[in-house]
Amino acid sequence: FAFTPEHRAQLEELCTHYPPERRKSAVISALYMVQAQQGHITGNAMRHVAEVIGCTPADVEDVVTYYVMFFTKPVGTYVLQVCRTLSCALNGAEKVTAELCKHLHVKPNETTADGMFTVMEFECLGACDRAPVIMVNNEHWAECQGPGDVATLVDGLRAKGLASLNGCHLVKERA
Ligand code: FES
Repeated sequence: FAFTPEHRAQLEELCTHYPPERRKSAVISALYMVQAQQGHITGNAMRHVAEVIGCTPADVEDVVTYYVMFFTKPVGTYVLQVCRTLSCALNGAEKVTAELCKHLHVKPNETTADGMFTVMEFECLGACDRAPVIMVNNEHWAECQGPGDVATLVDGLRAKGLASLNGCHLVKERA
């Protein structure tokens, strides 16, 4: 693994915002770039990030294994993370996950045979007033999703990709 010239340049620019001895602060952004490039984070990529950032591969692995938004195994084009914390649980998240799995013929943490979708359960996504919530690809929220909305969500992603998630929040603080 190696960063594309564009990602490498973005990362170097980002590192200018930190004192030289604090380059490690850019590791999360670097890991998002790895996922943007190849979907998940391999040991090879962790070593590359460590080399570029100037820390040890163990430092990078600590971050990868601590944060749930980093994937160490291949995932689908669309990662659907259903919140299972209190507000979502009380509003039927379990049924949403069950319907999603039934619709896609997978179990939680599995990827569809065509490589399009991975279904996961997740902890609070911070949009409890819009429960139940599904996060798509770590940055797009599909809110107020009942079991009956699952087919629309999946079919929309198949037909129009992330553009089908019109009106959902978008995380802005991404590098
Ligand atoms: Fe689901 Fe907070 S409990 S978003």
